[in-house]
Amino acid sequence: MNSISSNKSSKLIGDIIVPGDKSISHRALLIGSLVTGKIKIKNLLESDDVIATLDALKTLGLKIQKDKNIWEVIGNGIGNLSGSNYRLDMGNSGTGSRLLMGLIAGSDVEATILGDESLSKRPMKRIIKPLIKTGAVFDNPSNDNLPVKIRGSKIPLPLEYNSPVASAQIKSSILLAGLSSTGNTTVIEPTLSRDHTERMLKYLGAIITTTKLPNSSWKITLEGLPSLKPLDIDIPSDPSSAAFPIVASIITPNSMVKVVNVCVNDLRIGLYKSLIEMGANISFSNRREINGEPIADISAKYSVLKGIKIPKTRVASMIDEFPILSIAAIRAIGETTMEGIEELRFKETDRIHAMSEGLRLVGIETKEKKDSMVIKGKGPDYSINGNVTIKSRLDHRIAMSFLCLGLITENPIKVLDTDTINSSFPTFFETMNKIGANLKRIQTDK
Ligand code: S3P
Repeated sequence: MNSISSNKSSKLIGDIIVPGDKSISHRALLIGSLVTGKIKIKNLLESDDVIATLDALKTLGLKIQKDKNIWEVIGNGIGNLSGSNYRLDMGNSGTGSRLLMGLIAGSDVEATILGDESLSKRPMKRIIKPLIKTGAVFDNPSNDNLPVKIRGSKIPLPLEYNSPVASAQIKSSILLAGLSSTGNTTVIEPTLSRDHTERMLKYLGAIITTTKLPNSSWKITLEGLPSLKPLDIDIPSDPSSAAFPIVASIITPNSMVKVVNVCVNDLRIGLYKSLIEMGANISFSNRREINGEPIADISAKYSVLKGIKIPKTRVASMIDEFPILSIAAIRAIGETTMEGIEELRFKETDRIHAMSEGLRLVGIETKEKKDSMVIKGKGPDYSINGNVTIKSRLDHRIAMSFLCLGLITENPIKVLDTDTINSSFPTFFETMNKIGANLKRIQTDK
């Protein structure tokens, strides 16, 4: 088993680039397969999760190849997948598996979707339920877990779906199915989740509208059968990956780090807003836009933080960043309160539980409920002993968060089973060490 130990580091300094955005990379491949013609993708994230989506599309007959540093997808057009008995192994990828179900729901194709131990425990009924209404057929519709066998239909029914959770995976899966429908497809969500699918479809020529309803929920409507133009896609860096060097530099004295070219879509930067409210010295510069997504360089310096209450309306825009926020909260003066975070229980692992357990191991008090968590910060001068071992639980973000904490503890923090980091940030180890982190690879027995 591959593991990493994280050791006290004097300071983090430098300008770095983190890999392409995971959400946008999945979408570039999936939506790219639906255009008629060739699209070129620059800066695709070549992580295990995205490669699982790429391999699944190849298995379904799509031609995808790499020429120098650019990926090319030869799209078949909307609704044109065919065949049956495909077995698609999506590894650890929740986004890949759920969006792929939407894509399959919009074609006359049948496939079984499988995943690793972590993905096989995650809920799938949330996707199955709306897709059945479009005419997709599932072998075992009451089953909440992978493997899932699905047959799509060439002309799915138009659907208006009121989603109980703000989830971009649910929304995107339905929209991808709706592309082959002859009518409009509408998704209503309680707060707006990341809108990369909508932005990419709009960029390629689809008609899609987003409106706020009087009860503060959001309505997204897509016109079926758009003609998608084969335009090239340049993928910005992932703000969820940038979060690790940024928080590490905020908690490590004398640090100053800049991460360039990061996607700063408002629906992704809740962590940065929260850190600024906590007193972090973070700034955005060089703002610009590429293919419908805003990007900027993000700089951060060591900062003294105070605890805050995260507004519930911000949760969706930082849904993947609670593990690393919990590390920053340790260093804050006072309590950090997170409410309305039940969705964290359905991620790669139950993150509320994993965060509380890890924090308690290093001597930090937490209060945990079904959908909330309070962390009692110890302030910047408290000496944290470290000398603990954390299991990754096949959760890349839990692994990277505790490795960031190890940079400021008196003794090393060892994280077991760290290959899962390759799901989203394959260059994490090298990138962190390049700016001064003291991470060491270790071999441990299972
Ligand atoms: C993602 C949506 C989020 C997020 C995941 C990526 C996406 O999940 O946690 O890492 O790319 O659509 P939910 O849609 O379940 O909130």
